[in-house]
Parts: sequence; structure tokens; C-alpha cells
Amino acid sequence: MTRATFDDVVDRLRERFEVEDNQKDDTPWGADELRRRLADKDGVLTTGADRVDSALLDAAPRLKAVCNIAVGYNNIDLAACSERGIAATNTPEVLDETTADTTWVLLMAAARRITEAERWLRAGHWKGWKNDQFLGVDVHHATLGIVGMGRIGQAIARRAKGFSMRVIYHNRNRLPAKVERATGAKYVSLERLLRQSDFVSLNMPYSPSSHHLIGARQLAMMKPTAVLVNAARGGVVDDAALIAALKDKRIAAAGIDVFEGEPNFNPGFLGLDNVALVPHIGSATRATRAAMATLAARNLAAALAGRRPPNLLNPEAWAKRRR
Ligand code: DGY
Repeated sequence: MTRATFDDVVDRLRERFEVEDNQKDDTPWGADELRRRLADKDGVLTTGADRVDSALLDAAPRLKAVCNIAVGYNNIDLAACSERGIAATNTPEVLDETTADTTWVLLMAAARRITEAERWLRAGHWKGWKNDQFLGVDVHHATLGIVGMGRIGQAIARRAKGFSMRVIYHNRNRLPAKVERATGAKYVSLERLLRQSDFVSLNMPYSPSSHHLIGARQLAMMKPTAVLVNAARGGVVDDAALIAALKDKRIAAAGIDVFEGEPNFNPGFLGLDNVALVPHIGSATRATRAAMATLAARNLAAALAGRRPPNLLNPEAWAKRRR
């Protein structure tokens, strides 16, 4: 187990396996240390911050399962796992509603300048009420554009009904009419979404095809009053281009949970007032993080017992799995 998690999850695994954990320190294991530690392991519970590539897998000749405690799995080279007959799994569904909540926190904080106002208040600047203090933009009755309309995108759309918003979405594939009716969302092209939305929420996985999906050209299509929210993955947005757009007020504000190269994010964000920043906490509630760890442990236990894990990402690996 590469990082610390809830003790009861570790205890339950210990009933069936010999476990090497990181409960005390919780210091990230670097590539060399991971290679060394996995040399004699049958399975590993990873997080999105652990890079699982050919070099690591070559150093782990017994490894049968890599189980991410995350829904995203861009940290895992799936092809390299499949080639070696190693099962890879993630933790879908259990974090959908919590991540949708976080998106709304960021959206509203950016719209109503909450983090900026709090910093100002804490710094002792408040001398009295003023008509034009921290004027933001309205969320209610605005247009919300959702890019990536999977389970999390749909949960965000459902919440928008309470704010009487118009919801448009863009996705690789248009959703069935039934889902469109249930979410009240209308399918549009990415360009139309960017041009029409007051709020743009990004909710797709990171992959080479979503790399810098939102860059200078796309930001230039957005309204000068628009707010961008990224609770998806670092790299989906060109952070340098976003910083330039926020600085020049080409868009009004942004709410950001994930960064390119995190935790070493672009320091340009820090000089900006019109961005709400949080450190990749989209799924960070006690209940959801516990559910993620439990599901990842269940995947691991199944794979090591020779049962197909519930959230297998690479079915092609299963036929030639290591025994
Ligand atoms: C995920 O589950 O992918 C979240 O980003 C947490 O890592």
C-alpha cells in the first residue's frame, strides 16, 4: 500500500495477506523506492500520484494486480500491465456525487469571489459595507456548459436544476435521449458550448486526446464574464494559457482543483485574485475516501484470489493473468 489509508481497510487486508504499508510516514515513495518495494509483491494499492510504467513493472516479476484508489488511471500504463498479464483496477461510481459537490463549491466560490473576499477580510481590510464590494456573477438562471458528460458530469447537471440553469454539454458521444431528459442537458459542439456558457465545467479523464483540450484558442471563445472550473485532471487545461486569460480578464474567474505537474503547479496562479484554488480534494470526504479505499481493497483481494475484480480496466490482461 503506497500511501496511508483508513486503518480498518489495512486491518481487513492483513487478515488475508502480508501487508507492507505506509501508514506511519505517508511519505510518497519515489520511483526507485517503489521498484525496490514491489520486487517481491503480488499486488499493490496505488494512488493517482504513483506512476506505474514498464520500468516499475519490469522490477516486479510477481505482480498480479495494480489497484488504484482513484477513478482516474492516467498514472497507470494499461498496455504495459496487459502485456504482462497484470490486472489494473480503479474506483468508479463511489466518488461521483462528492466530486460533483466539489465542482459546485468551486463554481460558486469563483462566481461570488469567496476565497478572494475571505483573504481580504482576514487581512484586516474591511472598514464597512460598500455597494460595489466584491461584485460577482449570478449562478441562478445562467448557462452551465459541461464538457465530459459521464457520471460526474450528469451529477453536476442534476444539481443545476436547483439553480434554474440552462445546461448544455459536450461529450465524445451524445447521450441517449432518456439521459438528456433526466439531466435536462442539451448536446452542443465544444465551440458552441464555450461561446454560450456562463460557467464551463470540465469533467473528462486525462488522456493524450484530452491534453490541453482547453488552451488559448478555446479560452478566447469564452465570454469575458465566464467562469471555468477544472475538477477533472491536470493537463486537460493549458495552465499557462489559463493564467494569461485570467490575468488579462479575458475570462472572469476560475475554480481549480487539479494542476499540470501537481503538486508543483504553475506559480502564476498565486498572483491572481480571480481564481479559487484547492489541492486536488475533489473526492475528499471521509465517507467517499473510505469507500474508494474499500473498493480498491476489494479489487485487490479478488484479483489475488484469482477472481475477476469488479472494476477491471484491462480485460485483455485477465485471460493471460499471472498465477
Ligand atoms: C480520482 O479518483 O481520480 C481523484 O482524482 C482522486 O485521485
